[in-house]
Amino acid sequence: MELALATWHEVEDYLRTSDGIIIPIGSVEQHGPNGLIGTDHLCAEVVAKGVGDKIGALVAPTINYGMSQHHLGFAGSATLRPSTLMLVVRDVVQSLAVHGFRHFFFINGHGGNVASVTAGFDEIHAGVSLGDGTKTARTKMVFWSGGPRGQKLADELYGASNGGHATAAEVSLAQFYQPDHIKHAQMTPKVAPSGTPFFEAGHYRATYADGRIGSDPSLSTPQDGKRLFEAGVEDMVEMYQAFLLA
Ligand code: NI
Repeated sequence: MELALATWHEVEDYLRTSDGIIIPIGSVEQHGPNGLIGTDHLCAEVVAKGVGDKIGALVAPTINYGMSQHHLGFAGSATLRPSTLMLVVRDVVQSLAVHGFRHFFFINGHGGNVASVTAGFDEIHAGVSLGDGTKTARTKMVFWSGGPRGQKLADELYGASNGGHATAAEVSLAQFYQPDHIKHAQMTPKVAPSGTPFFEAGHYRATYADGRIGSDPSLSTPQDGKRLFEAGVEDMVEMYQAFLLA
């Protein structure tokens, strides 16, 4: 069930059976020559909806924007500051906690979000500890691709060419979700460089010229994306159900 497509009566009914909710989170940032700007939030969203469909969990609207300052050298990228993202996470969780939600399971599509979202979780827990009236909450964030099945499949399909940004796996999954928006491009070099740390947007662009890190997303196909979707959903179902016991 999707929160955005439910009535408040339906949400009240749901809360009689479960206090868990899944929140997809991603980014709006370049994903190399053939990757969509929305890749990270599209991937998190399709897997979250898959979990919701499979086990009847409630899925909140996707937090589309993330912490992407290092991608601003590429057209179309947009970022929240770390401090903004932290507060978005805190406010969404605290709002839903008012109604009785207690387990907040974030399915993430973007590595750049981790520090700020984790800080947002600490803001929430600090509010409880400091006695400011914040409701208690259990929070967890995982990558859609981070479970054992998803990792194994990406390894099998792409090996080291999966890469670190604009990965072959995430481009495949976005192709599966949005088959009318598949793009093709020449990759030069075929596998992008990797390993150099980056800082602000200008430095990133100078270091990683076409936006990719370590990947060859010319390998991506929607058929792979379907398999990655199924693996990701199975992984996330298992992780979500274990988390509900926390
Ligand atoms: Ni990505």
